[in-house]
Amino acid sequence: MTKSTEVVIEIKGLHTRFGKHFIHKDVNLMVGRGEILTLVGGSGSGKTTLLRQILGLEKAYLGSVKIFGEVRNSYVNTRGKTIYNRMGVLFQQGALFSSLTVFDNVALPLRELHIFDENTIRDLVMMKLNMVAIGPEHANKMPAALSGGMIKRVALARALALDPELLFLDEPTAGLDPELSESFVNLIRSLRSEMNLTIVMVTHDVETLIALSDRVAVLAEQRVIAVGTLNEISHLDHPFIVNFFKNIRHKMDSYHYSEQSWKTVLMP
Ligand SMILES: Nc1ncnc2c1ncn2[C@@H]1O[C@H](COP(=O)(O)OP(=O)(O)OP(=O)(O)O)[C@@H](O)[C@H]1O
Ligand SMILES: [Mg+2]
Repeated sequence: MTKSTEVVIEIKGLHTRFGKHFIHKDVNLMVGRGEILTLVGGSGSGKTTLLRQILGLEKAYLGSVKIFGEVRNSYVNTRGKTIYNRMGVLFQQGALFSSLTVFDNVALPLRELHIFDENTIRDLVMMKLNMVAIGPEHANKMPAALSGGMIKRVALARALALDPELLFLDEPTAGLDPELSESFVNLIRSLRSEMNLTIVMVTHDVETLIALSDRVAVLAEQRVIAVGTLNEISHLDHPFIVNFFKNIRHKMDSYHYSEQSWKTVLMP
């Protein structure tokens, strides 16, 4: 992220506490417009919770989250367009409502706005399904009748329903076989440039991480211990990072280790 980049998300001194347990202690992170920032960290390190914090679904114990320059608890602005309408989310679990058809799942965020008539909703839903390569013949199917890869695509169509500027992807390729995973990654890449998206993604899948990330942030010890390019991060001497990257060095031929870079990316 260069100095001139517009900051889209700014997290400062964030603490999250569940009962007696602190999940985050002093998390600091900035996301710039147009970038794909990937959040990595061990299972239970608080990645999904951090996304939920950014989305305003979880309360901060201390610290602040700003999106588009506004503090998180004032997301409904005076112009009536809430910041929520500028964000889309692909959740890690329960990607679709099982009792609704493909069409109705994607239509849901559009209907909730109460500004579109049914004809407009139909056009918008079909356009979004087309964007994620789901043919119209699947529109009236129930989620149970879809393959895993199709469910992810439909969930992505729903996340994109309101033409968000900011997209959150929690484990977008988990459970997909390598081929489906690669095609999903390609889809995200092309949608990103088509829609000028800023993306915050969580993934433990190294292929997805390499293919999409502009920068990587590492969540460990209740905070973001490092943020930088894949090249910078992958060579840090931290147990989680060493373990995470140990089997994939050969896939990163294009990345060259720079001896001094890591110190500059470690957070204070
Ligand atoms: N609502 C909640 N109440 C209490 N504890 C919670 C709550 N939500 C999450 N946690 C705990 O917070 C910790 C972080 O959970 P989170 O789901 O954010 O981890 P994660 O990094 O996304 O893990 P994974 O890689 O397995 O998805 C876990 O120990 C989890 O049990
Ligand atoms: Mg998670």
